[in-house]
Amino acid sequence: MLETMTAAQRHTLYQDACAILHEDGSAGARLHRMCDYLRQHVASYDWVGFYLTVPGEQTLVLGPFAGEPTEHLRIAFGQGVCGQAADQQRTVVVQDVSAETNYLSCSVHVKSEIVVPVFHQGLVIGELDIDSHQREAFSDHDRAVLQRLAAASAELVREIAPVA
Ligand code: SME
Repeated sequence: MLETMTAAQRHTLYQDACAILHEDGSAGARLHRMCDYLRQHVASYDWVGFYLTVPGEQTLVLGPFAGEPTEHLRIAFGQGVCGQAADQQRTVVVQDVSAETNYLSCSVHVKSEIVVPVFHQGLVIGELDIDSHQREAFSDHDRAVLQRLAAASAELVREIAPVA
């Protein structure tokens, strides 16, 4: 729900999250810290995590995340909101998950979700997935900031990419 912030605040959020990606530590640790940062600094972000594409398998596996553990450790392309975003190679926003038929529920509290693909050389190598306990939590501002953060995460996502 980044439209409650000023443009300057959104820019600071983006810059601070980006700076975490360049801190010390392993690729996985830095991605995890960025997830944690977003979850802590945006009230409407209740679960923030990465899924990673298994090369050659049309499957996503759970990567670094902040929030409650999820049972969805592996997701096939096409399945759920995550699988749709990977299959269609585009950001998918679901403003009311109760109205989405192709949805994998993690928690009864989740009301809306955004999934932003992470690309490398035109391929979806992973995705940034955010769940909210609020309906309609994701505006065009969220989409814009998260797409930039997903792009900024691509090098680190590549480093922790699973092998086929
Ligand atoms: N809701 C997702 C599953 C992953 S969890 O949100 C962490 C989906 O429909 O693909």
